[in-house]
Amino acid sequence: MCGIVGYIGSSEKKEILINGLKELEYRGYDSAGIAVLCSDELKTFRAVGKICNLENKCSDFLSKGFGVGIGHTRWATHGKPTETNAHPQIAEFSNIVHNGIIENYQEIKKDLEQKGHSFLSQTDTEVVVRLFEESLKHTEDGLEAFKQTIQSLKGAYAILLISVKYPGRIFYAKNGSPLVIGKGDDGVYFGSSDACVMGYVNKVVYLEDGDMGYMDVDSFESLKNIRSLEKNKAFAQKDGFRYFMEKEIYEQHKVLLETMMGRVNEEGVVLESIPEDFLEGINELTICACGTSYHAAMSGKYLLERIAKIRTNVLMASEFRYANPVMKKSELFIVISQSGETADTLEALKLAKENRLKTLAICNVDNSSIVRESDAVILTRAGIEKGVASTKAFATQMMVLWIFGVYIATQKNLLDKEGFQKQFKSMVRAIKATEVDPKLHERLKRLSKRYLHGHGFFFIGRDVFYPLALEGALKLKEISYLHAEGYPSGEMKHGPIALADSLLFTIALVPQHLLSEKIKSNVEELSARDSTICVISSQEVQAADDMVYINPAQDYMEEFFSMMVALQLLALEVAIKLGNDVDMPRNLAKSVTVE
Ligand code: G6P
Repeated sequence: MCGIVGYIGSSEKKEILINGLKELEYRGYDSAGIAVLCSDELKTFRAVGKICNLENKCSDFLSKGFGVGIGHTRWATHGKPTETNAHPQIAEFSNIVHNGIIENYQEIKKDLEQKGHSFLSQTDTEVVVRLFEESLKHTEDGLEAFKQTIQSLKGAYAILLISVKYPGRIFYAKNGSPLVIGKGDDGVYFGSSDACVMGYVNKVVYLEDGDMGYMDVDSFESLKNIRSLEKNKAFAQKDGFRYFMEKEIYEQHKVLLETMMGRVNEEGVVLESIPEDFLEGINELTICACGTSYHAAMSGKYLLERIAKIRTNVLMASEFRYANPVMKKSELFIVISQSGETADTLEALKLAKENRLKTLAICNVDNSSIVRESDAVILTRAGIEKGVASTKAFATQMMVLWIFGVYIATQKNLLDKEGFQKQFKSMVRAIKATEVDPKLHERLKRLSKRYLHGHGFFFIGRDVFYPLALEGALKLKEISYLHAEGYPSGEMKHGPIALADSLLFTIALVPQHLLSEKIKSNVEELSARDSTICVISSQEVQAADDMVYINPAQDYMEEFFSMMVALQLLALEVAIKLGNDVDMPRNLAKSVTVE
């Protein structure tokens, strides 16, 4: 989704802005641009497509000396991805970059047109910069004009604005979309996330909704809630893997240990971030999420009900928001989000809070909007995830849900010492099972070429393996653009099996330790209809055309995590064979900050 960067200082601005935008590339975009204001000269460059196109456009431009600059990667919402619609959006003497959606832009636009403004783009953003310049007709005070502008806006936004009338300043405003300001040795930096200021700054402020004002090179210290930022930039690099997604699949066993660390050991579960009486009066859980996080919620339901014997409802955030949902005080409202910025999930959380429900976030990004909004938080600790197709974040979400299930079970005295030990040992084995076996990866590399041309994929499984099948299908469609659907295997005969023929590929998840025979029968039904079947299992299944063997396991959760890795690698290898950009798949965004 759109990304924003900004800089005030004397270093080469073009370079800083473009490097910052590259750090945000993983969010997904279809055009990019920068504007630099130096020695009273405002220069704007924009290009459709990848950032290298923008780099080509401004290759001869240098921005030495003190000045300010803003940059943007745009994921089209209002108006096609053209150069005119790219940001910075331009008025007479000011430029703006914006992330979010201005809901009342039509009204403002009409009003401005009546006052003589003409518009160049189809964007909602252009109205903001023109409204600012209109406000300046009535006041000399730039901040006052900016304030009036922002007060007229309805919707979600993170905004940076520069103007020839106020050189040396960047005006900023935040409501609903993330914005970070940081200070380094050579100036002040802005970004949609700390990923793009990391390495440049040692202090940051995560702005709150409603924050607005302007920065010049000296005003950072006047901000509230300044924190230090000591993250290591090297962490976010590819470490020799072909894609971030591949690196992220390979590091799952390490980050899962982080997820467990200090929370579960042989003695029991400690969740320091959960207040002691947090579960008092709670007898039901509602989990709300989108995309991959929603799949984690679906698998989590089986675990929570089985281990903690607590009724668990799972809802898609985009569906929940407008359904006039019935909410009960006895229900704990849990949101799951990798980014912590997904607009639908954030709004669902706000709705639950308005209804006075207790809320818990399971999130990967500390200080994100969802984390700040929730009563309690369990961080997933997956580290920065850059591949748009989520992998290690899903793994850690599953682990947190599992830990939380065991936590509730111990609180409710449902687990004796032996029962707890069983869960603990199973978790440790499950983590081990995510270590990529080079033989498995090699097998999937070779096998993937046989699965490039069919008319679609079914991914099937039962129980926790059904949402895993959904997730396997999502991974494949996200990065390979092949049609893939996940189904509960028992449901095939109620419709989907009508599609079965030899060009329909079925990826069947056949665990040894959960409903094994039932799934095998479902596989046979498909085989009898001539579907081409690839079984992922530790044991041979007669009806399979291809077998992908996972290591033998002692329980079904160990099998779950093994199969998760196999599915991720299968999607990766198919997408690579098809020549796709695995980390930045078409039409998708990493962090979806619009509804
Ligand atoms: C986008 C991403 C998905 C992600 C979903 C929810 O669609 O492309 O990978 O699962 O948003 O994101 P969240 O950050 O809330 O988990």
